[in-house]
Amino acid sequence: MAERERFADKMEFPPETDQPNIYPLTWERKTQKMEEIWDASQREQWDPKKLSWDTFDPERYSWEEREAIAYWWTILSVFDASAPPVFAEALIKCYEEHEEDPVRRCFFSVTRDEQNHEQMCGLAITKLLDHPDAISYEPKTDLGRRLQRNAKWLYFNGGRYWNGYKKAVPKYSLAVLFSSFLMGEIAAATIFHQMAKGCSEPVFQEAFKNIGRDEGRHMAICMSLMERDYPNLTEDEKPIITKQIRAGYLFLSAVLFEPPEEFWDIPSDFIATQREAEEISRAAGFGIPTYEEKKENWKRAMLNLKGVLDKYDTEFPAIPEVGITGREITDVDMDEIIPVF
Ligand SMILES: [Fe+2]
Ligand SMILES: [Fe+2]
Repeated sequence: MAERERFADKMEFPPETDQPNIYPLTWERKTQKMEEIWDASQREQWDPKKLSWDTFDPERYSWEEREAIAYWWTILSVFDASAPPVFAEALIKCYEEHEEDPVRRCFFSVTRDEQNHEQMCGLAITKLLDHPDAISYEPKTDLGRRLQRNAKWLYFNGGRYWNGYKKAVPKYSLAVLFSSFLMGEIAAATIFHQMAKGCSEPVFQEAFKNIGRDEGRHMAICMSLMERDYPNLTEDEKPIITKQIRAGYLFLSAVLFEPPEEFWDIPSDFIATQREAEEISRAAGFGIPTYEEKKENWKRAMLNLKGVLDKYDTEFPAIPEVGITGREITDVDMDEIIPVF
C-alpha cells in the first residue's frame, strides 16, 4: 500500500481541506425558529415501547379485524420504514453542505422521530398478527390473504424509489428537497390527528397523538427552511419544484388517499380490498378516515402548500383528483422522486 503523504514536517499549517467535506467544524446559529423546534423535539421525545401496551389485548378482536388493522399499519410502514434512511441521507447532505447548527440538529430530530414511527408500526403489527411482518405472515382469513397480496404490491412499489431518491439528493438544493418533504408533513400532521380522534384503543390514541405532534414539528422545520431559502430560488429550480409536488401527490396518495394507477402498479381489485379492510377496521373502533374525509384532508394539505408556493412565485401542479387547477404535469418519473413521510 502506498504511503500516505505527510505534510507536518514540510509546513507550519496543514493544507486546506477539500470541500464538500462531511464535517463542518463550526456551530453557526442563524435560524432562531429552528432552535425553538429543536428544543420542542427534546421536550416532546417519546418511546413507543413505553405506551400503555398493557391495556391492549389483541384477542378482543376477531382475526379478520386484526388483519384489517394490521394492514393499515403496514401501509403506513411502507412510508415510515423508509423515512429513517431517507432523512439520514438528507442529514448527511446537511453536514456536507455545512448547514448551520440548528438545521443539522433539526434533521437529526426528524431522523430519530421517523425511527420511532417505524418502531410503532412494528410493535402494532407484531401484536396484531402475532408475527413481526405482514409479508411472511400466514393469513388466517380470506380477507387476510387478499390483504397480504395488497401488502406485497405496496412493498414492491415502495421499494422502487430508493435508487431515484439517492440520485436526486446530491442533484438538488435543500430548498427543492424541502418542497417535497413539506407536503408529506402537512398531510401527515392532519391525518394523525384524525386517527387519534377516531381510535378507541388507548395505545393507538397515544401513538397517533405523539406521531401527529412530531409531524407538526417536521412541518415547521420545512416551513422555516423554505422561509429562509425560497426568496433566493433560481428560475430553473421552480419548475422542478412544480414537478416534484405532482410526484409527491401521486406517491403519498397511497397512504393519505388511495393509490393512483398513474404511479402505483397495483392489481385491479387492490382498492376494493383495501376499502373492505378499512370498513372492518372502522367498525372495530380503528377510525380510518372515510374516502370523503381523506379527500378533504388531502385537498386542504395541497391548498396549504399552494399558499406557500404562491408566496414565492412558484407554480403549483394541477391536482384534478382533488379539484385543484394548475400546471399540467404528465411526465412524472420514478427516477427522480423525492417525497417522504
Ligand atoms: Fe413519520
Ligand atoms: Fe415526518
